[in-house]
Amino acid sequence: MERDIIFAGNWKMNKVIKEALDLVNGLKRELLDIEGCKIVIAPPYTALTCINDVLLDTDIALSAQNMFGEDSGAYTGEISPAMLKDTGCEYAIIGHSERRKYFKENEEIINSKIKLALANELRAIFCIGETLSEREENKTMDIIQTQLLGGLKDISSQDMSNVIVAYEPVWAIGTGMNATPAQAEEVHAFIRGKLTELYGVETAESTTILYGGSVKSENIEELMSEIDIDGALVGGASLTIAHFSEIVKKGLNTKLQRR
Ligand code: 13P
Repeated sequence: MERDIIFAGNWKMNKVIKEALDLVNGLKRELLDIEGCKIVIAPPYTALTCINDVLLDTDIALSAQNMFGEDSGAYTGEISPAMLKDTGCEYAIIGHSERRKYFKENEEIINSKIKLALANELRAIFCIGETLSEREENKTMDIIQTQLLGGLKDISSQDMSNVIVAYEPVWAIGTGMNATPAQAEEVHAFIRGKLTELYGVETAESTTILYGGSVKSENIEELMSEIDIDGALVGGASLTIAHFSEIVKKGLNTKLQRR
């Protein structure tokens, strides 16, 4: 089975509703005819419902940037998976490094959120990645292994069809300094190897592994040339119509040529 190619835009804490609608209408125009990959956008919570209306007649899918790890209850200010489903979300980003850093999300929290997302029929975009000091101390693979195994604890092989792994080296996020294709491929291949140990070849080969961290139209082709890079999770460059649509088009072309 050929794994999905996915290009996802994580808008982070950007775009009020009017700006969000302008962006999504532009993306819709540019990306309407694209076939052969999944396109996912993750706007802020406040724009989800009205963006969903715009996307109803398209294949572009909606994602949340986070979700709370309980089904309902007295959790002032939080958003449940059912609420996200209600807005039209098909995906939720879980364990983003900004959540790990600013909101102290650890492996346990992330693992329970992934399970809850899956139980609510949301596909999880599960983020992992090392910091610069961890890389410099040659701890990258240890960190990746800990985060991967911790996040996927008790997740079945069957459930893995709804998990997308995103490798986002923290030092590459928002810095303009992307991992080189070789650096990214080394980690992606390591992740696929661990998934093979955990779930067997078939599941590992059909799991989509995205790269994220300073992806731009100028570097997407070389990244997508790597065998284990199946798409991108894009931050800053997903905020403009021209940049994100060029990333999707160039990245998809490169991957299709290689298959
Ligand atoms: P940038 O593309 O802005 O580096 O952000 C990457 C990211 O964090 C996507 O989730």
